[in-house]
Amino acid sequence: MVLRSAFLVLIASALTGCAESRTASTPTSQGPYRAAAAPTNPVKGEPTYRHVVAADHEIASKAGLEMLRKGGNAVDAAVAASFTLSVVRPYSCGIGGGGFMMIHLKRHPKITGLPRTIALDYREVAPSWARADFFETDPKLKDDPAASTNGAHAVAIPGTVAGLLDALEKFGTLSREAVMAPAIRAAEEGFVVDADYMRAVASSNVARGAKEAGSQFAEFRTIYLLNGRVKEGDLLKQPAQARALKLIARDGAKAFYSGEIASAIRSVLGAGGANVTLAELAAYRPRELLPLTTSFQGKKVFAFPPPSSGGIVIVQTLGMIEARREEFDSFDYDSSPQIHFLTEAFKHSFADRSRFLADPAVTDIPVLNLTSQANTRDLASRIDLSRTQPIESYGSNIPRAAAHPPTDSGTSHLSAVDSWGNAVACTETINLQFGSLVVVPGFGFLLNDQMDDFTTRRGTPNAFGLRQDDRNLPAPGKQPLSSMSPTIVLSGETDTSPVELVVGGSGGPWIITGTLQVLLDCVTYGIPASKAVAQPRIHHQWMPNTLRIEPEIADSTEGSGKQTRTVRAGLESRGQELKLGKSECVIQAIRRSPSSPGRFEAGSDPRKGGKPAGE
Ligand code: GLY
Repeated sequence: MVLRSAFLVLIASALTGCAESRTASTPTSQGPYRAAAAPTNPVKGEPTYRHVVAADHEIASKAGLEMLRKGGNAVDAAVAASFTLSVVRPYSCGIGGGGFMMIHLKRHPKITGLPRTIALDYREVAPSWARADFFETDPKLKDDPAASTNGAHAVAIPGTVAGLLDALEKFGTLSREAVMAPAIRAAEEGFVVDADYMRAVASSNVARGAKEAGSQFAEFRTIYLLNGRVKEGDLLKQPAQARALKLIARDGAKAFYSGEIASAIRSVLGAGGANVTLAELAAYRPRELLPLTTSFQGKKVFAFPPPSSGGIVIVQTLGMIEARREEFDSFDYDSSPQIHFLTEAFKHSFADRSRFLADPAVTDIPVLNLTSQANTRDLASRIDLSRTQPIESYGSNIPRAAAHPPTDSGTSHLSAVDSWGNAVACTETINLQFGSLVVVPGFGFLLNDQMDDFTTRRGTPNAFGLRQDDRNLPAPGKQPLSSMSPTIVLSGETDTSPVELVVGGSGGPWIITGTLQVLLDCVTYGIPASKAVAQPRIHHQWMPNTLRIEPEIADSTEGSGKQTRTVRAGLESRGQELKLGKSECVIQAIRRSPSSPGRFEAGSDPRKGGKPAGE
């Protein structure tokens, strides 16, 4: 605790000139990070960049920087970084998966009418075989709880290649060949297996697939487990994925969705009993959506709309903070009142996630009701600062019937900015570590297990412990609900305001609470990006009714003299049930430097070992 306080005091006392600091007031003795006492000095030694990419692997960040050096924009950089992640973080995301890209375009040589912010949705869609009750009733799979996470039936139609190339063609400036070159190089020359890769190998999903000798997972074991002998420090080359990437670089998205690669996808899934047609692969298209927007501390926030659940949870939680701003500002940073308030807000918004959210293209979602100021004020007014509530009492009082049908870590985030003021927040996933463990023969890339993000078995939580509504049942062409939350904050209320923060993360539902906390760290508390992504964090997702908290926070003390107690004691006295443990969320953030005009700070979360690259 002493160390943690000393660290925070050090940063706070070293900060100057934060233009957006909140109303000044005297900090209490309990900690330096009262919102009201926002830091005012730059941290000495925090590097700043005119353009930068923060991915969760340094090779991917450098691929993005290579594009910026060629004169490319943030979209070129993000697309290059993303294709490279398919190679160097193959267990998190890749061309066999899907994602969300939030693009804030301020200047572009060929596009007028800027600034404009686009939410590009290239999430996977359920194949034509998917029925609402498939995983509950299929005679071969109904008793196999792993049917939606391992093997052919776990796989939804991938969207990444279509999404990335759509973003590049519409909003980038460089050629396909140029942006894909670093990924092809990484696949051919190989990358060094790191500690995070080995953590992914040790996950239970992988252990199960690895055990099944002679099965559909044989190619996965050969390429990604090096026949069971993979270890930290090994050089892992992917000549087969390089072949796929070269075909895509040459022929574009059609190489993936209707060429040789499409046939290989159809044949490997068919061999596993999941029949996907060439026509449905060829029909895949990304969707261009309008971002959700809200105002927070006088800044415009762009959050991702459904099928992301993250944007709605973030907008609701920020709304609850604004509704009780004076009280929130009186709480010390990471104190029990502040954590209790955030936890109660998360419970309300995750209860709504569970009850209301799904693919809006197929199901009515009351987005406006959920995110309205009237609703967030109502939710905020129901937060009791001294006590938790009965678990079923959380969530919005919106009539369900109106919009309700009758029946009712893997993942990787990168942030990029360029010197023209453009920004990209991009989160992509193949769902659980190494996705379905199914490799496309001859092309070496992994297919996702995104079917598990649907409500596959009614009333049963998914792999992330999330209970979801019947609105999120599978259906052909439908996208499963996601927690991915790429978010961009501007420094003022208008679209012409400079970009203040580009943020997002990986880690299932932890993405949402982690993104929100780093947003508060950077925007409300003035913590520099590289420190904000490393801060200890909390997580609550309504169900299970447990507050996950990193020991560094729980064990720190608050108050003074006889009133001194641990934060943990403060939370338990309010009825919170705590579970101590490491945050499962990995955040990459870029923040506008408060002291160097036109420059940015960048942070890749040390939890996954990434590093930003910029200049
Ligand atoms: N597959 C994780 C997510 O989209 O939330």
